[in-house]
Amino acid sequence: MGFPHPSHPGETVVLSKHFGDAGARTHAGWVERGGYEGLRKALGMTPEAIIEVVKASGLRGRGGAGFPTGLKWSFMPKDDGKPHYLVCNADESEPGTFKDREIMRWTPHALIEGCAIGAFAMGVERCYIYIRGEFTEPWAVMAEAVREAYAAGTLGDNAMGSGKPIHITLHRGAGAYICGEETALMNSIEGRRGNPRIKPPFPAAAGLFAMPTTINNVETLAAVPHILVRGAEWYKSLCKGNPKSTGTKLISVCGHVQRPGNYEVMLGTPMKELLYDMCGGMRPGRTLKAVIPGGSSVPIMTAEEAESALLDYEGLIEKGSMLGSAGMIVMDDSTDMVYQIMRLARFYAHESCAQCTQCREGTAWTTRILERILSGKGKESDFDLLLDLADNMTGTTICVLSDSCAAPVVSGIRKFRGEFEAYIRRERAPVLELA
Ligand SMILES: Cc1cc2nc3c(=O)[nH]c(=O)nc-3n(C[C@H](O)[C@H](O)[C@H](O)COP(=O)(O)O)c2cc1C
Repeated sequence: MGFPHPSHPGETVVLSKHFGDAGARTHAGWVERGGYEGLRKALGMTPEAIIEVVKASGLRGRGGAGFPTGLKWSFMPKDDGKPHYLVCNADESEPGTFKDREIMRWTPHALIEGCAIGAFAMGVERCYIYIRGEFTEPWAVMAEAVREAYAAGTLGDNAMGSGKPIHITLHRGAGAYICGEETALMNSIEGRRGNPRIKPPFPAAAGLFAMPTTINNVETLAAVPHILVRGAEWYKSLCKGNPKSTGTKLISVCGHVQRPGNYEVMLGTPMKELLYDMCGGMRPGRTLKAVIPGGSSVPIMTAEEAESALLDYEGLIEKGSMLGSAGMIVMDDSTDMVYQIMRLARFYAHESCAQCTQCREGTAWTTRILERILSGKGKESDFDLLLDLADNMTGTTICVLSDSCAAPVVSGIRKFRGEFEAYIRRERAPVLELA
């Protein structure tokens, strides 16, 4: 899972073109393949013009929320005399998501180039790339690539001979999901506990070290050099659905399909095409039951919803879910939905930073109630209890971790209620023993 696969005719290969091509990892190899042309071009432009190109391309954040990247960049103050920072979010801990690690493993210079363009466009003193602690190989590849980029003069006080300073520092996380949330991540870089911060102030006003900061996902930044080289119009033309969703998206597909892996498709591609043509459909003799399309933090879709959905920001909202980080967890008809939802709730309970009561208590109690149902001790009133808890966990906390726990529970009960009832009415044998 997550390893390169031969590209499929349905794919539009931009970011993943050099996945599996070890020669693209070195600075010289990247330059041979046309790398750093985007940065060269950017250094000859004004920062404002770069931001306009990124805005015009329609690029939206690939970390989950889909916020327009050019607009985010334009929020950075100008001429305020303060140090500015760019942070690249390479924490990638969202269950089902395994695309950023492949960008770093195979095309580290694409990320460095994207960071350098962003840094120049936003008058950034230093860019930090925050890499998930468990990413041993991506870390080693990135460290070598940054070393090479400094040695080649691509980074440094005189980046590419432009007279402009561009600096990148790698920072390694320690394996906490919450540190992927942008303000918890900033606390973590500062050496503090990884707790999300109350907003406002937003990072563009007071972020890392209380200075103006922009934070972007790995995939977002890796797309920027292509936009600079080939133009905003080209990027906008990579669109099969809603014109507000442009470009290609790496979709990580895991679970019960025949060929799991990362697939790069134009936004707006029908989900059915991805699941059946590219991933080869379900395992032999099995049918699709459910998909969680955006990493685990979004509502669950039924087979009917998934098979009629377009893979873009609007298409998945239309079907009651979200594109999120586009880590698709595919479940066939052998899946026990109650058990899977309990596993997700247990994950969120484990990863809650415990700062907000609704999240600390809500994720833990949700898990306990689901465990109780799975152990054959559930009650009819548990439905109301779970939904009431979910209500209190949605829109009430500093970050959306508790909302993320509530989403699969609420959609799971609504769409697969019969499976919960089977445990509660003792029609199904318990699968857990309560301690
Ligand atoms: C609990 C939680 C975990 C998150 N984890 C990640 C992550 O691992 N990687 C990521 O890019 N964004 C993650 N995000 C989203 C970030 O807060 C932020 O929106 C994103 O990095 C912005 O980049 P973008 O605009 O390029 O998408 C997470 C958010 C939350 C609430």
